[in-house]
Amino acid sequence: MKRVVLAAYARGNPKPGDFRIEQVALPEAGEGEILLKTLYIAVDPLLRFSVDETVLTGAGRMELGMPMVGPVVAEVVASNHPAYAPADVVEARTGWQEYAALAPDRSDYRGPPRKLDPALAPVSTALGALGGPGQTAYEGIVNVGRVKAGETVVISAAAGAVGSIAGQIVKVLGGRAVGIAGGAAKCAALLDLGFDAVADYKAPDFAAQLQTAMPEGADVYLDNVGGDVTMTVLPLLKRGARMPMCGFIAYYGVGMEGPGPDRLPGFYRLIMNKGLEIRGFAGMLAGRKGLEDIAGWMKAGRIRFPESIVEGIEAVPAAFSSVFSGHDHVGKLLVRVGAPAGPGA
Ligand SMILES: NC(=O)c1ccc[n+]([C@@H]2O[C@H](COP(=O)([O-])OP(=O)(O)OC[C@H]3O[C@@H](n4cnc5c(N)ncnc54)[C@H](OP(=O)(O)O)[C@@H]3O)[C@@H](O)[C@H]2O)c1
Repeated sequence: MKRVVLAAYARGNPKPGDFRIEQVALPEAGEGEILLKTLYIAVDPLLRFSVDETVLTGAGRMELGMPMVGPVVAEVVASNHPAYAPADVVEARTGWQEYAALAPDRSDYRGPPRKLDPALAPVSTALGALGGPGQTAYEGIVNVGRVKAGETVVISAAAGAVGSIAGQIVKVLGGRAVGIAGGAAKCAALLDLGFDAVADYKAPDFAAQLQTAMPEGADVYLDNVGGDVTMTVLPLLKRGARMPMCGFIAYYGVGMEGPGPDRLPGFYRLIMNKGLEIRGFAGMLAGRKGLEDIAGWMKAGRIRFPESIVEGIEAVPAAFSSVFSGHDHVGKLLVRVGAPAGPGA
């Protein structure tokens, strides 16, 4: 089987050459283990923290030569565990490899592989709307943002996995969703998803576009990006606006201890003057309740689950790199690495 290993710690934005494809023997399911065949790999931005030479957060650090970690959807192809049978489809964190053997009873803090119900939705959604990104969007909009009907919510990286679901949750709650994305095509896709207005942060008139999109300002800013995008949004927020701080992808490649310039003084001034309520959150805190609500809204046709799929494990390094350097994909970006053998998916 093939797997992707870390060949070099990322300097700046990750590059495909930071990874290497290896051919290794197929693992076997040992005592109490299951053998998983990977169907989809999610190239999540937060994996960037794991490929830093110096780790600044709690993320697990990769050693050079280690197979890359990360969430996948996989099919059980052999089982020595009573809770799993061949053809079951699960969400697991077995990383960028075509097969993996693991012991469900010895899983990490995230728990054993989550069994999926293919009748509910395509199993790939376990890595998007019905997985971590969906829970994150729910946490940001419902629990941290506390969005109410009639409020205006502006969302950065709105065409991504989290943002595309977050904007639709705003609409379910009766709010007005304003999406920020890079390029006209992504902005058009957001309008198609039901966002009320959009602004293209790559356009020279981004600030004017944003002002037009939310002439009375915004009550909530779900921030996935930081950097210039956030510095353009902040002056347009209403007094006392809430800012769920979900991510800061604009800084992932530059290093969090970059030399500056130090923009904290301006940031502090805006927080104080506007009485902003900023609350960061990490981890899929919304849990089952979030996923159940999203599944219900999907069933009722109120939430769509945009995803973009590229093919083959060889495509994983480039797909991961493109998350930071720009791509045309809308919604969750997945790599399909295998076809299911059984009927489960
Ligand atoms: N707090 C948590 O628990 C949690 C959980 C999951 C994700 N997150 C964070 O949430 C954010 C979104 O995650 P996701 O899964 O939705 O990611 P995603 O689907 O991969 O989308 C990321 C998008 O960010 C935009 N982007 C990248 N670099 C940028 C830059 N320098 N300036 C502005 N936009 C940039 C790109 O869209 P454009 O083409 O529009 O530029 C890219 O497609 C990330 O920051 C991620 O780390 C946090």
